Amino acid sequence: MHPLEEQGQSSRMLDPCILLIFGATGDLTARKLLPALYNLSRESQLPPQFACVGFARRPKTNEQFREETKTALNSFSRSKPEEKIWNHFQEQLYYHCSEFHDDEGYAKLKKLLDDLDAKLGTKGNRIFYLSTQPSFFPLICEKLHKAGLIYDESQVKNKWSKIIVEKPFGHDLTSSVALQKELLKFLSENQIYRIDHYLGKETVQNILVFRFANSIFESLWNNRYVDHVQITVGEDIGIGTRGKFFEEAGLLRDIIQNHVMQLLSLVAMEPPSNLSANAIRDEKVKVLQAIRAIEDGSCVRGQYGPGFIGGKPVIGYKQEGNVDSKSSIETYVALRLFIDNWRWSGVPFYIRSGKRLPKKSSEIAITFKDPPSVLFQDSSKKNDPNVLAIRIQPDEGTALKINCKVPGPSSPVQPVKMDFRYGSYFGVTPPEAYERLICDCILGDNTLFAREDEVFSSWKLLTPVLEKWEKENPAPFPNYASGTWGPIEADAMIMKDGRKWRLI
Ligand SMILES: NC(=O)c1ccc[n+]([C@@H]2O[C@H](COP(=O)([O-])OP(=O)(O)OC[C@H]3O[C@@H](n4cnc5c(N)ncnc54)[C@H](OP(=O)(O)O)[C@@H]3O)[C@@H](O)[C@H]2O)c1
Repeated sequence: MHPLEEQGQSSRMLDPCILLIFGATGDLTARKLLPALYNLSRESQLPPQFACVGFARRPKTNEQFREETKTALNSFSRSKPEEKIWNHFQEQLYYHCSEFHDDEGYAKLKKLLDDLDAKLGTKGNRIFYLSTQPSFFPLICEKLHKAGLIYDESQVKNKWSKIIVEKPFGHDLTSSVALQKELLKFLSENQIYRIDHYLGKETVQNILVFRFANSIFESLWNNRYVDHVQITVGEDIGIGTRGKFFEEAGLLRDIIQNHVMQLLSLVAMEPPSNLSANAIRDEKVKVLQAIRAIEDGSCVRGQYGPGFIGGKPVIGYKQEGNVDSKSSIETYVALRLFIDNWRWSGVPFYIRSGKRLPKKSSEIAITFKDPPSVLFQDSSKKNDPNVLAIRIQPDEGTALKINCKVPGPSSPVQPVKMDFRYGSYFGVTPPEAYERLICDCILGDNTLFAREDEVFSSWKLLTPVLEKWEKENPAPFPNYASGTWGPIEADAMIMKDGRKWRLI
């Protein structure tokens, strides 16, 4: 049963299994994966028969891996290691040192996993989490297959094997199709879990509940009532230590192609016929396929220069470590999209995302059309439109801006905000996205993972933009100062339509 259908049931029966992390000494493992596993263990959300095996190149013992895990938890986990829970958790951690290409390493790995099965009762079930550079994905799958560690689903029924792959899935349409072809040599689509951690966020899952468990919004959710939609995914941080990665990726590939397209498809999709993974993903893919090709003038890119964040001076992108001093990689993108279907015809979706913006903030804002201007309208000032803002992070929640009479004999109209905040209402910190997604993978529920056609549709839309940028002369970068909301061309793009970016 999908958790959205659970109606309050808190625990799900998870099969015994071993989770293997390729890239176990990497940044993502320390910051997200190990903390997620620890918190799941702490909340008894992992199967009782469970082990996590780290796989990487650096030689180290199980004990060293455990010590380093504890350090990572102290730095990054939402709950710090408590002795009793940590003692139990650490016994489930193992380390295997090997190169990704080394056949002998995989043979030894198989022996280790078989021994753990015998010792812990993990029954041969495996998750292979590929937290590595995407160029390694086909190689690792080939080696796992050769070592008999990936099972053919049509032959083997009493145990399972799955892989989780990190984003990005390819770097354009052609490479994503080629990557999928490579993976399908060794796995079926059912065994591939393409992670987009945005989908694991409570607030993102709540978009479906908000839209389809309330009757009052659905009738307004269309081009008759909605003027436009704005999606913002902003970060105040710069590139930090990820210069090498970002120089190859850029913001369109890193954020828009996956996170933003997922948000857009959830907010714009039709109601699914049920809550099964395929019913939901079918509707999401239809939205992506209905987006009109991006026209000239509907796309702006930017790169941050030096500036100030929180009153402190910060360097520009070109001065960051491992970044080419002539780089024309974008750290900001604004788009104007149209979904050519019955519901959204003519409604612009304005997207903006960037690094070194004034604050970290992800939100979707639905701006409704102005009411008829016959009453309560003073000729000098129009009433504000109603806006429904879904805050993904931080300060997760939903706010509705409505107009209200100010008390007193005259009748000025003033916008006020009805605000629901997850934190204060439910009094709990929402679990990290990775916790939810790892659990779902063990359970075999791929609703919150991207399906191949979703990924291809998104690349199909965005690849022409990347190709155009590649052909153009080097962009006049930097074109926005750190701590501002992006280049003036992005303001001009939306102002041309008589609208403006929201103040967040
Ligand atoms: N970091 C993030 O915040 C983040 C966020 C979202 C997605 N991702 C994605 O997650 C993936 C991992 O990112 P990351 O930042 O964790 O990378 P990373 O810090 O560079 O870690 C790479 C890992 O791969 C291992 N490795 C590299 N070459 C190897 C080889 N030939 N044989 C065996 N092990 C090898 C390294 O092991 P040794 O160190 O022992 O050599 C290290 O454990 C990437 O696809 C990235 O795009 C990362």
